Amino acid sequence: MGLKARIKSVLPRSLFMRSLLILVTPIFLLQVITTYIFFDRHWDDMTDRLASSVVKEIALIADQIEQVQGQPERVEVIAEYYGRILELGISYRQGASLNRTDYDLSAWGAIVHDTLSRQANTIIRRPYDIRIDIQEKWVEISVQLKDGVLTVVTPQRRLFSSSAYIFLLWMLGVSLVLLLIAVMFMRNQIKPIRRLAIAAEKFGMGREVPFLKVEGAREVRAAARAFLEMRERIDKQIQQRTAMLAGVSHDLRTPLTRMKLQMEMLGDHPDATALKQDIADMEKMIAAYLEFARGEGGEPSERTDLSAMMTRVLDQAVREGAQVTGAIQPEVSAVVRPVALERCLTNLISNALKYAGTVDVQLYTDEETVQILIDDNGPGIPLELREDVFKPFFRAEGSRNQKTGGVGLGLPIAQDIILAHGGTIDLLDSPQGGLRVYVRLPM
Ligand SMILES: Nc1ncnc2c1ncn2[C@@H]1O[C@H](COP(=O)(O)OP(=O)(O)OP(=O)(O)O)[C@@H](O)[C@H]1O
Ligand SMILES: [Mg+2]
Repeated sequence: MGLKARIKSVLPRSLFMRSLLILVTPIFLLQVITTYIFFDRHWDDMTDRLASSVVKEIALIADQIEQVQGQPERVEVIAEYYGRILELGISYRQGASLNRTDYDLSAWGAIVHDTLSRQANTIIRRPYDIRIDIQEKWVEISVQLKDGVLTVVTPQRRLFSSSAYIFLLWMLGVSLVLLLIAVMFMRNQIKPIRRLAIAAEKFGMGREVPFLKVEGAREVRAAARAFLEMRERIDKQIQQRTAMLAGVSHDLRTPLTRMKLQMEMLGDHPDATALKQDIADMEKMIAAYLEFARGEGGEPSERTDLSAMMTRVLDQAVREGAQVTGAIQPEVSAVVRPVALERCLTNLISNALKYAGTVDVQLYTDEETVQILIDDNGPGIPLELREDVFKPFFRAEGSRNQKTGGVGLGLPIAQDIILAHGGTIDLLDSPQGGLRVYVRLPM
């Protein structure tokens, strides 16, 4: 897509890096602009003036010496006098002539050379040559006089102020210190947000969330408090639901037991057999409700060997006479509620065995998730029913009249458990022609 998407893909993802960017960008821009203005205006101006004054001094000395050419003692006196006062190294070679030498200049050297030449062209009005040694920090300017060559050596500091470096260094240093302080403060600001995110994620996966400290900026505190309240409300709701279901199931058992006793006393009346069957069904259902209710209980999460668990479940199925094949990657572990997850796996496999003849199980991991595939060769579930079968008490038409006699809670319980672990459960087509149940769990 367009520019927006591209910019987005370049920008950092974490809040920390983003805030850092928000902070660094203006500092960096400020630095660039200040540096630019400083060098473009102030520094150029300064070096121009410095160069001009040195060049004027040289012009003055050149004039003086030219007036006393042919009188070496007087030339010497002038050279000594100006050299001392102006801190220049002055020498004069009578009869010599200027020979220009070409040499490479560094970037700094080129700047100094340019500034000097600009001034020299207008002020000295004689042939001249400039030699610059940046390392040794001196500049040598030779001027062709009528009768010889005047050479003036000046220290570099007379031509450009080193305060420019110091200014830049200060600016850089101060921004670094500012940045460091900002990073320190920002990390403290972001810590509570990160903690909140981790807590919410863990809670979503049904894992233990230790008490979350309400800390940080006002908005973060508000979010943390809202999260804590939400957690409490959800926990309470689950508890209430569990308690109600358990209570109802339990209360129903007593009259059912009484009815069973009364049926026994009725003897072999033809109506009695049908009623007995109904009572047996009701007992089975109540047992299932109780199981459903218990599934939500506060079982603690712990790191569990899922490979071993799956092998156990399959062994049980084999013992019951089922035809099972499997490819189980060994030693796959995850943080789960072991009893609940084992019930989930049992439900799924018993479904496959109930509605199909054979079952093939795969369990493997791809570093981030545990993947479980349960394939059977049964009739499968039509596409339009794949959502409904997860609703409690829903049973597909075909299974209604079967002797299998389920309640319709197997899949809802399995889904509840997987979702509470932060995983997903999907119904697909198996390569064997039946149903494939695809479960993914975070590690
Ligand atoms: N492997 C499967 N193949 C075909 N249909 C299935 C399979 N698993 C589940 N179903 C269909 O989905 C419905 C719901 O399954 P679920 O496990 O929730 O209930 P149940 O098996 O009927 O009863 P319960 O598991 O509570 O004893 C089943 O009635 C059945 O029609
Ligand atoms: Mg079932």
